[in-house]
Amino acid sequence: MRERTLIIVKPDGVERGLSDQILERFTANGFTVVQRKEMTIPRSLAEQHYAEHVNKPFFPSVVNYMTSGPVVVAILEGEDAVARARALMGPTDPAKATPGTIRGDFGESIDRNTIHGSDSAESAQREIHLFFGENPN
Ligand code: CMP
Repeated sequence: MRERTLIIVKPDGVERGLSDQILERFTANGFTVVQRKEMTIPRSLAEQHYAEHVNKPFFPSVVNYMTSGPVVVAILEGEDAVARARALMGPTDPAKATPGTIRGDFGESIDRNTIHGSDSAESAQREIHLFFGENPN
């Protein structure tokens, strides 16, 4: 099924100039970039984005980190976009990610893991709305 997902190239990725390379991995795998923008995420938006983790011990550090510098946020579209994007990213912890995945190749630590991707179609819808508003194309 054709669907959309949201990815965020995190500050460690943007800092190292990896955004274009990372987006090319998706387009080379049949994804379309529907929208992309570079921004520094306001704290309130980061808190909303990670609301499901509010009670986790890593919540304050992930919010601090995600607001610490520019990120690139993109809406990607493709067949089974959520699952296929997650496969290209690799597991959350780069130490567990195999080479060839984005986190396996670029991730530095569980916090500086280079990329975020929506974890379900519902999260994708919610996150796209948070970052791009009501009618993103
Ligand atoms: P992300 O996909 O952006 O979603 C939440 C982020 O919290 C995650 O990637 C990690 O960068 C960060 N994080 C830090 N510690 C943990 C943990 N123990 N489990 C999951 N995510 C963590």
